[in-house]
Formats: sequence, structure tokens, C-alpha cells
Amino acid sequence: MRILVTGGAGFIGSTLVDRLLVDGHEVLVVDDLSSGTHRNVDAPLHGLDVRDPALAEVAKNVEVVCHLAAQISVRRSVADPVLDAQVNVQGTVNVLESARRSGVRKVVFASSVAVYGTPAKIPVPADAALDPRSPYAASKLSAETYLSSYRALHGLEYTTLVLSNVYGPRQSPEGEAGVVAIFTDALLTGRPTVLFGDGGQTRDYIFVEDVVDGFARACGPRGDGRRFNLGTGLQTTDRDLHTLIAAAAGAPDLPALAPARLGDLPAMAVDPAPARDGLGWQPRTDLRTGLKITVDWVRNHGK
Ligand SMILES: NC(=O)c1ccc[n+]([C@@H]2O[C@H](COP(=O)([O-])OP(=O)(O)OC[C@H]3O[C@@H](n4cnc5c(N)ncnc54)[C@H](O)[C@@H]3O)[C@@H](O)[C@H]2O)c1
Repeated sequence: MRILVTGGAGFIGSTLVDRLLVDGHEVLVVDDLSSGTHRNVDAPLHGLDVRDPALAEVAKNVEVVCHLAAQISVRRSVADPVLDAQVNVQGTVNVLESARRSGVRKVVFASSVAVYGTPAKIPVPADAALDPRSPYAASKLSAETYLSSYRALHGLEYTTLVLSNVYGPRQSPEGEAGVVAIFTDALLTGRPTVLFGDGGQTRDYIFVEDVVDGFARACGPRGDGRRFNLGTGLQTTDRDLHTLIAAAAGAPDLPALAPARLGDLPAMAVDPAPARDGLGWQPRTDLRTGLKITVDWVRNHGK
């Protein structure tokens, strides 16, 4: 299959490119290199903004587009919601328009658990109420609704993958699971680490190789017109995460404590069960193993 990956020079996108190449696909990348790097990419790279109309040319003869290019920072979306909407909403509409005009069969989209807001039930079911509480969450949700309108109007297939906190090699400290990169970097270089509140805040950490397995599966015939959570369903506290990373790094497990930050969600985990039936997908990498791979990678490739 000929597959275009937007954001393919970034953390998750470049890991997906590697996986699709191993699976024998022909892969193209579109990335403006605003946070990604060409060093991550082993496939032809088009240095384009996803808002650029020239995207339609690149999408010619492409069967599936995996759309991961995005403004990924919740904080930046609050500071500059117009930029966030331009990249995440206008950019997605341009991807869909280019895909439709070029005869692409399917778009697979990276959404975020941010669309669930403060969930009533954990693990969050995939059909839970949607309650975006940041411009980033609103732009991801808006992009999701455009996918469904393009399917209704033009028959363009789609699958939305709602990613929990993804961690692994090549991750930057800026993203939604940035805390793994921050702790890893600090603990390997002997710098202090800080836990906010009592360290009891939880997140659902999912290894990047498992996430890209979900994308690879969604490129096939399954999951059209559906959205799936890609997470483990398990909650890990900041305190436990610190202990696991310190153990993998061989560093002391002695974080400083600071007051809780206003607006931080106390708990999050998502129910991945529908992805098992819908895509044949399930998380395979336990946190201890994934963190060891991540810490070893940073040790060998870090700054
Ligand atoms: N990392 C997570 O935990 C997480 C969780 C939920 C959702 N997501 C989503 O997964 C996707 C990938 O995230 P990531 O963590 O790999 O981030 P990343 O920053 O490493 O990757 C994003 C890539 O998109 C590129 N990009 C940004 N704006 C662009 C534009 N206007 N035109 C073209 N390219 C552009 C960047 O250069 C970068 O290579 C994003 O859509 C993000 O919202 C990530």
C-alpha cells in the first residue's frame, strides 16, 4: 500500500513510518519540521505545512493517509488558540480535501483523550460524553467531526484513534506524556525532579510501538467510520512512574514535592476493549518493559 504519514518526522509519526516500512508499504512523509526532525525519517520527506494546498499533489496515488501532524501542546493552545485551530482544524480540513481530490481511500486520525475533559467514569469508554476543556481538545474534536462529515458526503473512509499518554524513544518533553521524557532526562543526568501535589495524579501510559500497531491495523479494511481508544485501561500515579523510571535509570527515587498545579486532571485512563474487536488491537508492552526500552534509548541517544 502507498501510505502518506503527516507529522512523520515527529515522535509517534516517525515510529509509525518505521513500522509501515517493515510491513512492506511504500511510505511518504509530510512534515514542516516545526518540532520533528529529518533525522527520524527513512522515507521520502516533503517539507510542507499541512495547510498548504500543494498537499493534494503529494497525496496523488496514495491509498491511506495517517494524519498525525498537529500543534500538540495544551498550554500553547491556551496561549495561542488561533494558531492551534489553524494547524489542527484548518490543517485537517486541508488533509481531507487533498485526500478526497486525490482519490485516497482512508484517513486514520490521531485524536487525544483531552476530548473527554474530566471523565465521569474511569477507564473512559470510547462512547463517553465529549467535553473539550482546552482549545487543543476543541480542535481535536472539531477535526474528528470533519472526518465523519467527509465520510458522509464523499465516502472517504476514516478511523479515529484516541491516544492516551504515549511514551517511548524519540519523545520530546512537550507532549501529553512529556513527564516520562522529563523524568528520564533529569534522572539520567543527575538533575532534580519534582512531583506536583501528593504525586497521586494518574495517567494511562501507552508504549509508542503499541500505538503504531493500532495505526498499522487501521490502515487496512477494518474500523471504518469508528473511533477507538488506544490506551491500557490502567492508571499509574506520578509517584509510581517516578519510581519505575528511577529504577530503570539506576538513579535515586527522591523527587521534590511542589504544590498541585491548577487545572491538572486528577486521573485518566481509557477503555481499549472496543479496539480488540474492531481492529484486533491490544496493548502488549507493560510499563516496566516500555520504560526500560525508553530509558536505554535516551541513555544511548540523549543530548
Ligand atoms: N504524544 C502523546 O502522548 C499524544 C497523545 C494524544 C494525541 N497525540 C497526537 O499524536 C500526534 C503526534 O504527536 P507526537 O507526540 O508524535 O508529537 P510531535 O510533535 O513529535 O509530532 C508532530 C509532528 O507534526 C509536525 N507538524 C506540526 N505542525 C505541522 C504543520 N503545520 N504542518 C506539517 N507538519 C507539522 C511536527 O514537525 C512534528 O514532526 C499529534 O496529532 C498529537 O496531537 C499525541
